[in-house]
Amino acid sequence: MQINAGIITISDRASKGLYDDLGGPALKKAAEGYGWKIAAEALVPDEKREIQRAIREQIAKGCALILTTGGTGVALRDVTPEAVREIAVRELPGFGEVMRIESMKITKNAILSRNLAAVVDQALVICLPGKPSGAVECLSFVVGAIPHCVEVLQEVPTSC
Ligand code: MTE
Repeated sequence: MQINAGIITISDRASKGLYDDLGGPALKKAAEGYGWKIAAEALVPDEKREIQRAIREQIAKGCALILTTGGTGVALRDVTPEAVREIAVRELPGFGEVMRIESMKITKNAILSRNLAAVVDQALVICLPGKPSGAVECLSFVVGAIPHCVEVLQEVPTSC
């Protein structure tokens, strides 16, 4: 099935133009490599409401999968997990567990990421670390479950 994906870079500094958004393009390249269509891209500051608005806009554009990069860490300005959990119908804990466990083989800082996956409306939202290589690495650790997860979430709810 064709997966329409959205990418959201969450970064105060990149959104102010203080440095280039490298995470978004890195994720776009990885997503295209997995055969997904990039239907939307956004760059927003570390603000809950802006993160939530960007997710809703991408869902409205038909994105069944939304990849965010940034704001999953321990700093006070890192609010991505809280922003997503507030609008999610449920969290999918296995994604965060695997991303951290696999990332521990790369960096001991892996447990500083509160990266997660959650369902918002019928879309799968996966929150990845801000470092471009970290985002692409974490995506690779969970990519195997994405097609089936998206397929199930996109099924038209049967009235039972
Ligand atoms: N996971 C992987 N695979 N690779 C990384 O480079 N960076 C770690 C962690 N997880 C990293 C990673 C670091 S240094 C931090 S601070 C946390 O992700 C959170 O990063 P974020 O605040 O940019 O989301």
